[in-house]
Parts: sequence; structure tokens; C-alpha cells
Amino acid sequence: MVEPVWTEIDSYFEKKLVGADPALAACLRASADANLPDIQVSPVQGRLLHLIAKLHGARRILEVGTLGGYSAICLARALPPDGKLITLEIDPKHADVARSNLDHAGLSDKVEIRLGPALDSLPKIASEGAGPFDMFFLDADRPNNRAYLDWVLRLSAPGAVLVIDNVVRHGSVVDASSEDSSVRGLREMIDALASERRVTATAIQTVGRKGYDGFLLAQIDAPSREKAPSAAPRRRT
Ligand code: SAH
Ligand code: DHB
Ligand code: MG
Repeated sequence: MVEPVWTEIDSYFEKKLVGADPALAACLRASADANLPDIQVSPVQGRLLHLIAKLHGARRILEVGTLGGYSAICLARALPPDGKLITLEIDPKHADVARSNLDHAGLSDKVEIRLGPALDSLPKIASEGAGPFDMFFLDADRPNNRAYLDWVLRLSAPGAVLVIDNVVRHGSVVDASSEDSSVRGLREMIDALASERRVTATAIQTVGRKGYDGFLLAQIDAPSREKAPSAAPRRRT
């Protein structure tokens, strides 16, 4: 369900704050022409990813789930000249469209697309020593999010930032009895995060042109005042 006012307000902020962006517009057009699913981050969410990368001073970013390269463009533009984004994509057609979109955006030098199931690519990235990464964006198949989190923890530089998309999914995340593998995967990932002392995390619900959803933001290995040695026992739901 998408309330008309959510889209209207997204459009308002897009127009005022994000503005016309020929490379992103071309990316959306080419992705639609190639019949890719229309599930990339929205323009305002893309700007948020860009800002997080910039605020953090990210130099090496790892993305899981490339699609047509929309979020990759937003992230890669925040990198310094010698920065690098590695993005993992299982679908060769999506990867082809993304390659062309990134090329058109002038970012092919900074972005490497790795084709294949992310759980095949991640061990290779680790064994090659391609990390550590100082920012991660998880936006692929939710049933594997728990497994992706383990790789994030292995590949992260101290203080790395983690963003996970689609952690609310119309509210389904709180359905503890759900048999849906996406919901279960999501909840397992949240449980793992909750018991991981190296991580400080939060999650924010969102509405907009993509409906009701949310994202998770976390920092790995971040010293935090709320995480004193005598931290309160964690409540499990
Ligand atoms: N981050 C993109 C949207 C990604 S959509 C953006 O905002 O622009 C999710 C993508 O993850 C799809 O392209 C899908 O093919 C890919 N995907 C799904 N399962 C995957 C897996 N196991 N490994 C790698 N990519 C996967
Ligand atoms: C949908 C949205 C997403 O951001 C995503 O990663 C996958 C699916 C959706 O709206 O269906
Ligand atoms: Mg998503």
C-alpha cells in the first residue's frame, strides 16, 4: 500500500533537495527499458546513502544487490578519487545493465561488479584480501541476510558503517510466527545483530513512494557510551 501523500512528499523533497540528475535519470530509464524490477532505492534514499558514505569518509564500500546500479552510483559518487566500490549481483542481465549505467555515469573506474551468488563472491573477496571495507550496503535476498552479516563482520574495518535495506517490509518483521523465509531471515539477522557486542545499531521505519518499509543503520566495533561493560541485559523478543 502506498498512500498518495507519501509519493507526493517524496516528489517534493526529490525536486527541492535532490534535483535533476541526468545520470540517475538515465539509469532509471535504461533499467526500465531492460525490464528490470522497479525496486531500486528511491531518489531521497539514494541521497541518504550518498550522505552516509560521505559523512563517514568511506573509501572502500561493499554492496550486496546491484540491480541496475542506481544505489551503486549514489554510493560511488561519495568516494574519494582512489576509493572503490565492489557490488555483488547474481543476475547477469542486471549486471550488464548496471555496467552500462555506471559507465554512463563515469564511475566504471571506481566500481567493480562481481557476478554470481553473493555467498560465492564473499569468500573470494575475503581470500583475495580485497577488504577490509568501511561501509556496507545489504540490499539483496533477505533470507541470506544473516549469512551476509557474518561476512560483514569478517570484512569490516574498525568503525565500519552498515546499512541494511528493507528491514520493515510493511510491518512483517514483527511477525514472529511468519513462515516466510524473508521474514525469518530478517529476524535471524536482527537476533544476530542484537547479540553482537561489536555492533551499535538502530532501525528507522520509512514511508514513501516505495510504501512502508525501513532501514537499519549500524556501526561495527564502535566504542559507544551506551555499551559500557555492565550493559543492561538484552531483552529478547
Ligand atoms: N541496490 C539496488 C537494488 C537491489 S535489488 C538499488 O537500490 O539500486 C536486489 C538485487 O539483488 C537484484 O538485482 C537481485 O538480482 C540481487 N540478488 C538477489 N539475490 C542475490 C544473491 N544471492 N547474490 C547476489 N545478488 C542477489
Ligand atoms: C522491494 C524493494 C526493495 O528495496 C528491495 O530490495 C526488494 C524488493 C519491493 O518493493 O518489492
Ligand atoms: Mg532494497
